[in-house]
Amino acid sequence: MNFERTLIITGGAGFIGSHVVRLFVNKYPNYKIINLDKLTYAGNLANLKDIENKPNYRFVKMDICNFEGVLKLMQEERVDGIIHLAAESHVDRSIKDPFTFAQTNVMGTLSLLQAAKAYWEPFGWALPAGDAVPPATRATLGTVRGGTMSEANGGVERSETVARGSSIPCRFYHISTDEVYGALEMTHPEGIDPPFTTKASSGKHHLAYGEKFFTEELKYQPHSPYSAAKASSDHFVRAFHDTFGLPTIVTNCSNNYGPYQFPEKLIPLFINNIRHRKPLPVYGKGENVRDWLYVEDHARAIDVIFHRGKIAETYNIGGFNEWKNIDIIKVLINTTDRLLGRKEGEDMDLITYVTDRAGHDLRYAIDSSKLQKELGWEPSLQFEEGIEKTVRWYLDNQAWLDNVTSGDYQKYYENMYAGR
Ligand code: NAD
Ligand code: TYD
Repeated sequence: MNFERTLIITGGAGFIGSHVVRLFVNKYPNYKIINLDKLTYAGNLANLKDIENKPNYRFVKMDICNFEGVLKLMQEERVDGIIHLAAESHVDRSIKDPFTFAQTNVMGTLSLLQAAKAYWEPFGWALPAGDAVPPATRATLGTVRGGTMSEANGGVERSETVARGSSIPCRFYHISTDEVYGALEMTHPEGIDPPFTTKASSGKHHLAYGEKFFTEELKYQPHSPYSAAKASSDHFVRAFHDTFGLPTIVTNCSNNYGPYQFPEKLIPLFINNIRHRKPLPVYGKGENVRDWLYVEDHARAIDVIFHRGKIAETYNIGGFNEWKNIDIIKVLINTTDRLLGRKEGEDMDLITYVTDRAGHDLRYAIDSSKLQKELGWEPSLQFEEGIEKTVRWYLDNQAWLDNVTSGDYQKYYENMYAGR
């Protein structure tokens, strides 16, 4: 079958990636979607059971650090777009093991950038449509040895066959986080009226805890090894545009919630603990603020931006939906109790204040008005609906939860929480 486009989505077996893969596979039957994932502890093919047999879907188990493998795959499949989500994503793990975060998030992104440059640059960043033959490439186009990357595209010749006008513009879309901007001050701990409301904003609890928001022009001030590694990868992506002309886009999104999130993150971890009546480890005083967006709305934003975003631009993604941790935890307890047929709020005594996370960012709040104004994206799900749907999903999919919390998860939990 001839596909209109062929995309690699990295990290497609993870939380957000699986929603992006599902959206693209279902919405674009004329696109071939290649899910490239190493399947770390966070990658789970069970997240994609419903689409795994679709004719426009292929899974490739590969490390993004494998430059030669990625390049070969791009050549064989004639990949014209990359949506890059693969990463080590959990702040607490980054505090224990920063090296892995630098390796995957920085070196992995660099390896993908080099492969994309090596394959696309000789075509002038647009692949010939249809059956036109790609330019000959000589043997391997570069190697990664001893931690350094050699020049990657030396052996490629520019082809005369590239037909301008009937070409598919290439695109490297890098998914990043609002955490690269650092932490905002909490000038109004009691909450004030936020400057914007979106569909994602809570209907019952719509507050902002300060006057400032993360905008696209803010300078990066990452504090955790996770956000430092993501910031570094964002810089590399922009550098590849500025230096080589690689057609890139970067987006920075707020905290996501929804189905298929690994239960090391606040929301699924707490739902699972409430279900088992295990203590709920609240870091510090529970006063830290996060801005929450339903994962499918993030995936919809990625679709809009991949197709209509401007090259070299940055777009912030978020729903103006700030919550103090302790408040969202109370919502989780009430909702989970109710859906389990318990008395609403009866599990409040599971709340256990524990030693704070080192370098814990106080407040994240993202201003996504540029995306809304320029590309017309809007979240579709109000927070109350989203959280109800999410809790219900984890309770209805206990086998999924039990599967991912067996084995190594117990060791992780011990290591992260024992004696805290
Ligand atoms: P996740 O941890 O659930 O999934 C990460 C996926 O990447 C997994 O499938 C894993 O197997 C894969 N992976 C990890 N290392 C790899 C490697 N070396 N090679 C190939 N695959 C590898 O992460 P997530 O929460 O879905 O986040 C996805 C992306 O979105 C990340 O880049 C993250 O920084 C970003 N992001 C996440 C959030 C959030 O709230 N979760 C918010 C904003 C941005
Ligand atoms: P998390 O889901 O890890 O996302 P991030 O750190 O990337 O924002 O955490 C969300 C918030 O919840 C954050 O302020 C840390 C806090 N938290 C707890 O209080 N206890 C926990 O066990 C976890 C995992 C997080």
